[in-house]
Amino acid sequence: MSNGILKGKKGIISGALDENSIAWKTAIKAHAEGAQIVLTNAPIAMRMGKINELAEMVSAEIIPADATSVEDLEKLYQGAMENLGGKMDFVLHSIGMSPNIRKGKEYGDLNYDWFMKSIDISALSFHKFMQVAEKQDALNEWASIVGLSYIAAQRTYPFYTDMADAKAVLESIARGFGYRLGKSKKVRVNTISQSPTRTTAGSGIGGFDSFFDFAEKMSPLGNASGDDCANYIISLFSDFTRMVTMQNLFHDGGYSSTGISEEIIELMGKQ
Ligand SMILES: NC(=O)c1ccc[n+]([C@@H]2O[C@H](COP(=O)([O-])OP(=O)(O)OC[C@H]3O[C@@H](n4cnc5c(N)ncnc54)[C@H](O)[C@@H]3O)[C@@H](O)[C@H]2O)c1
Repeated sequence: MSNGILKGKKGIISGALDENSIAWKTAIKAHAEGAQIVLTNAPIAMRMGKINELAEMVSAEIIPADATSVEDLEKLYQGAMENLGGKMDFVLHSIGMSPNIRKGKEYGDLNYDWFMKSIDISALSFHKFMQVAEKQDALNEWASIVGLSYIAAQRTYPFYTDMADAKAVLESIARGFGYRLGKSKKVRVNTISQSPTRTTAGSGIGGFDSFFDFAEKMSPLGNASGDDCANYIISLFSDFTRMVTMQNLFHDGGYSSTGISEEIIELMGKQ
């Protein structure tokens, strides 16, 4: 069901790799709600993923950009403004990657070059997205910028290793730039702290299936799906959430406020 709540809005959506990606689902919903979009992803993802299929479905141009490269991001905003004929009303940062997680490194045995990569790709890139946008004056007033986080930024999840630190930085950047862009342009910046979701990035985390099931049993509403997350992102891009900024918004079916659930007690009792 669509209500045209993004009619006339223009934006950039990063991070759509395949149909499971949160960004993929968001792009489809943004298009259905009347937005015009430009898609972006790392040049390597162009070869691995299926972004061309999505681009056709949502009538969008793809502008490849490595989110760690300021030069690529400059070209991205320039290209998006040319293609869409104006400044951006929304930007989705849906990017995360940790070489340490990919290579199965434990928290006490991190490779520090890879740690820097995790932080650069998963957190500093959020800053770069906003710094470049500000310098190019690429955002309309009341634009909305959303990044995606995980509760490991606040609580320890051993298998999440350096991504936990990256997410803490990401959430902090949302506050830092949220203040700045709020003052200068009335632009809002938020992160959504999403339930475990079956995507390429999600499933790459050690023990994913177990903590997916655990979170499902802990959350009174169950895990929020990728589709639910995309709906929430659309609401944050819309004019209905204009005064929400500098927040980390838990979108997790109640998981973050639950101490223990009956389902978990029952499960423990069976052991
Ligand atoms: N899946 C989960 O359980 C979960 C939970 C909470 C938060 N998140 C966050 O949601 C966001 C989206 O991930 P997803 O779950 O949709 O998985 P995904 O694998 O579909 O998306 C991650 C994207 O990051 C892109 N990317 C990686 N390196 C990049 C770079 N250098 N430049 C540009 N793009 C790059 C990938 O190509 C991919 O499209 C991430 O920030 C992730 O940490 C995911």
